[in-house]
Amino acid sequence: MAHDTTHDTAFAGLAVDGLTVGYGKAPVLEGLSLTVPRGKVVAVVGPNGAGKSTLVRTISGLLRPTAGRIDYDGESLLRRRPDLVARHGVLMVPETRDIFGGMSVWENLKVAFDNLDPGGDEAAAFERVYTLFPILRERREQLAGNLSGGQQQMLAIARALLGRPKLLMLDEPSLGLARIVIRDIYAALQVLREQGLTVLLVEQNATMAVAFADHSLVLVNGRIVLQGPRETMAGNEDMVRHYLGAPPAAR
Ligand SMILES: Nc1ncnc2c1ncn2[C@@H]1O[C@H](COP(=O)(O)OP(=O)(O)O)[C@@H](O)[C@H]1O
Ligand SMILES: [Mg+2]
Repeated sequence: MAHDTTHDTAFAGLAVDGLTVGYGKAPVLEGLSLTVPRGKVVAVVGPNGAGKSTLVRTISGLLRPTAGRIDYDGESLLRRRPDLVARHGVLMVPETRDIFGGMSVWENLKVAFDNLDPGGDEAAAFERVYTLFPILRERREQLAGNLSGGQQQMLAIARALLGRPKLLMLDEPSLGLARIVIRDIYAALQVLREQGLTVLLVEQNATMAVAFADHSLVLVNGRIVLQGPRETMAGNEDMVRHYLGAPPAAR
């Protein structure tokens, strides 16, 4: 960073305050506030249509909020273009994964690297993601479209990591994946957490997310109806599932 303009007392991490955003008439999120302290994992769980992707897209600069603040390390991300939000170290892995199926794994990574970290140390960056996901190194010459769903999710995460995120936002990383593959994805997230990465994790599949995150929020119809640290949320699983419209867990 060339020049650090943040104030000493600025909140370290992501601070969203009073965020109101939508696609037209009625707002999808209304007055939403949350923080992701630096080095922590925060989960936002909620049913389909709750506004989870809208939140992540808005932080990424893809949607313009009508009210509220979004700060990272005390600097506003509002009215920044998505590429500049990414340059600021705030990167997202979209729900759609957005990989190029007709390109090889390596080409997918190369495009991401050239976009996100031009002039960076390419060899070191590739080594980092191949160390995290050895299967991507093995499959580097294969078409991304021929990867399994879990491998495509790994590739999507690897692409974001090439932007050297301070904050990584993951939109439903476990969507459509088998339980054993979800475990692999979360194992990689654990490695990233141990390396100090700050993570905003959005999931409809609450069980894994709530058990993993330091703090979780339940979002329903654009509003936070329940939140708390892992200890209370993981012990409150039936309540979380109630809000998500899922039956209580079998015992
Ligand atoms: N591009 C869009 N245009 C209009 N409405 C949208 C668009 N994307 C999402 N919505 C609406 O916004 C609400 C929240 O959607 P979304 O943020 O995708 O929820 P989630 O990710 O929690 O499933 C839903 O009612 C959805 O229909
Ligand atoms: Mg979504």
